[in-house]
Amino acid sequence: MTSQTQTLVAYDQVPYLANPLPQTHPSRLAAIAAMFGVSYAPPKRARVLELGCASGVNLLGMAHFMAEAKFVGIDLSMAQIREAERRAKELNASNVVYHHMSIEDVDSKFGQFDYIICHGVYSWVPPRVQEAILRICRENLSDDGIAFVSYNVQPGWRMKQAARDVFMALTPPDVPAAQRWEYGVSWIKDALETTANDEKRPLLHQALDNELNSTLTQRDIRYLAHEYLEENNEPCLFRDFLAQVNKAELTYLGDVEPASMVRHIAHPSLREFFKRRPPQSMVETEQAIDIITGRSFRQSLLVRGKTQSQINRALTPDFFKKLHIQTRITRSEDKDGQVVYTHSKLGKITPNPPYGIHALDTLLAHANKPAVFKDLAEKFSELANGGNEGIFGDILFSLLGAGLVEIYADLSIPALPKGVTPLAVLDIKSGRESTSNYLGEMINLDPMQRFVVPLLQGDWDMSEAITKLAELYAKGQFTMNPAPTNDDQIKKILEQLVNNVVSTFKIHGIAG
Ligand SMILES: C[S@@+](CC[C@H](N)C(=O)[O-])C[C@H]1O[C@@H](n2cnc3c(N)ncnc32)[C@H](O)[C@@H]1O
Repeated sequence: MTSQTQTLVAYDQVPYLANPLPQTHPSRLAAIAAMFGVSYAPPKRARVLELGCASGVNLLGMAHFMAEAKFVGIDLSMAQIREAERRAKELNASNVVYHHMSIEDVDSKFGQFDYIICHGVYSWVPPRVQEAILRICRENLSDDGIAFVSYNVQPGWRMKQAARDVFMALTPPDVPAAQRWEYGVSWIKDALETTANDEKRPLLHQALDNELNSTLTQRDIRYLAHEYLEENNEPCLFRDFLAQVNKAELTYLGDVEPASMVRHIAHPSLREFFKRRPPQSMVETEQAIDIITGRSFRQSLLVRGKTQSQINRALTPDFFKKLHIQTRITRSEDKDGQVVYTHSKLGKITPNPPYGIHALDTLLAHANKPAVFKDLAEKFSELANGGNEGIFGDILFSLLGAGLVEIYADLSIPALPKGVTPLAVLDIKSGRESTSNYLGEMINLDPMQRFVVPLLQGDWDMSEAITKLAELYAKGQFTMNPAPTNDDQIKKILEQLVNNVVSTFKIHGIAG
């Protein structure tokens, strides 16, 4: 079997768990260009190409909310492209097309794109396809275009390599992935239990133990099968990736996560390390960040026709003035009545009084939608006596370094019509447990929310929705705890439930 046929068979047999990838949203990529003072194509009318788009979930999510932009996705797996086409057709999405073809067959005649996305492909394909990816970024990017390429990086990935090698050693590639997986995990568990109390437990077992508990038993088989059982998975050093980028006559712009580039502001070990060893160049800085933070995955942005010297890396908070900003922090009170700030991924945040607290309260006043700097700075001055735009910009910069805010350039916030988005309805019909919002974010839907989505379509009506839900309840399709004792109670509970669902959907940007 050739390596291309193997890839095709692998993804046709175990389709990738394709999810929305908010970090690839054109407004997020453009924000990094804005941060470094580099021009970019307006996301609103952008032409976007995704290489290795799987079943098109990411592109369809963006196409749904960006009606004036055009999207093209390609993938080698026929089963996934068919699914992508089926969903686009059902949604009447005329601004997205999919092609069943290899990355290697995209040439300059394929057209020019303002944004090229290639997520989760580069490390998992042979060198000639890697070369083709970078060639496409050179030949098919428009003058102000930005390419996104993600890949596994060394030395961080070496810690995971042990588990991959064990899987490879245990079963041949022609055994179905799920079977290889089950066998491998139970085998590793037995091996680790056997050596658990050994005085000199091999370092290998510590690495496997860590991998087993942090990833192997935690992530979905559709992700794991490709990461650990795929024929190709060749992580590289950032330095070597950069060499390939330069060879392809492209320029490295930066990482898609601004925090990962300005993290030394907030990351104590990096701060300490760079104090001891001030880096002499961007490459040295980035390579050190990988090693000090043990990073195993990168999401790099590339441009063409620009040189490193045209990229302004001496960042000052001024760039915020052109952007939309959002945080995922919430504010609550603990049992002693103390205010607690919590970030959805990073946990409890302790802001410095007084301005740090005012800055968080400012962002929280706009919490559910990205807001422009000017509006935020005005709110900050109102809350913080004596606090001005400059102070707010400095605090935002630290928050960005800590990964506590997201930035967007030229973001169009669509006016959502009444009812849940048609995309959410389609996602539920397609058996997905999540949908995307206008920021390209994945919104997980719990079983009850999934149940209610079809009742909230278009110009939906509360009393019709309640009547329908009451019928379904009577048929035993869901239960309520405690069980209501009469019809009035049933109605009241259902009305409250629908109201809660709708307000959550509005907050997440999937209902108007
Ligand atoms: C790990 S999946 C990533 C999917 C998606 N980009 C994501 O990150 O969710 C890799 C995808 O690349 C596709 N692929 C692999 N080699 C390819 C090639 N030569 N040409 C086009 N697609 C390819 C596979 O079919 C698969 O859908």
